[in-house]
Amino acid sequence: MFSRQLTDRIRLSLSVQAHAEELFALTERNRDFLRQWLPWLDMTTGVDDTRAFLERQLYGFANGDSLTATIFYDGKAAGVAGFNTIDRTNRIGSIGYWLGEEFNGKGIMTRVVEDLISIGREHYSLQKIEIRCAPENARSRAIPRRLGFQYEGTLRRAERIYDGWHDSEVYSLLL
Ligand SMILES: CC(C)(COP(=O)(O)OP(=O)(O)OC[C@H]1O[C@@H](n2cnc3c(N)ncnc32)[C@H](O)[C@@H]1OP(=O)(O)O)[C@@H](O)C(=O)NCCC(=O)NCCS
Repeated sequence: MFSRQLTDRIRLSLSVQAHAEELFALTERNRDFLRQWLPWLDMTTGVDDTRAFLERQLYGFANGDSLTATIFYDGKAAGVAGFNTIDRTNRIGSIGYWLGEEFNGKGIMTRVVEDLISIGREHYSLQKIEIRCAPENARSRAIPRRLGFQYEGTLRRAERIYDGWHDSEVYSLLL
């Protein structure tokens, strides 16, 4: 299991079953906040759903198709980030992330994404990293912009979030 200490306060660890209780509790506390932007909240109603998610992620990690990591801030689970997909043929990784609301505004995710860029370069030999965000998601789109990603364009009606369709802005970084 990998674990990387990014700062005195931020640690990034491969997501494993042992994180399930804490991640589900974080999800439960932040259900309304996360539901604005993420499509899986209504399918995550008990800790067993989080366990099943983590199990699927570990298969993805073992196969080299994805990487999911838990973010700890001062030792407490603060969110999740990683490569939702790793396209090994084209060597492109697509980053996704979320934080509990109480952990927003501290620069945690920007630091974590910087580390994912290093992991993508060093461990997966990626040549390109993508981040996709809804245009209305100001906090999310600020992260690739802050890190020098280039805006590539907007995919129309690319994602369904409950009863509404959202466009996706695509940002990318060439490595
Ligand atoms: C998207 C999300 C992760 C962004 O969180 P965030 O806290 O804004 O992002 P960061 O952790 O990078 O922090 C940046 C903020 O910390 C501040 N900050 C403080 N210290 C900082 C530092 N050392 N470096 C960078 N920013 C710092 C920045 O000014 C910024 O705050 P501001 O927006 O008020 O100006 C979070 O809002 C979230 O999880 N949302 C719900 C799920 C979601 O939308 N996921 C993405 C779907 S595409």
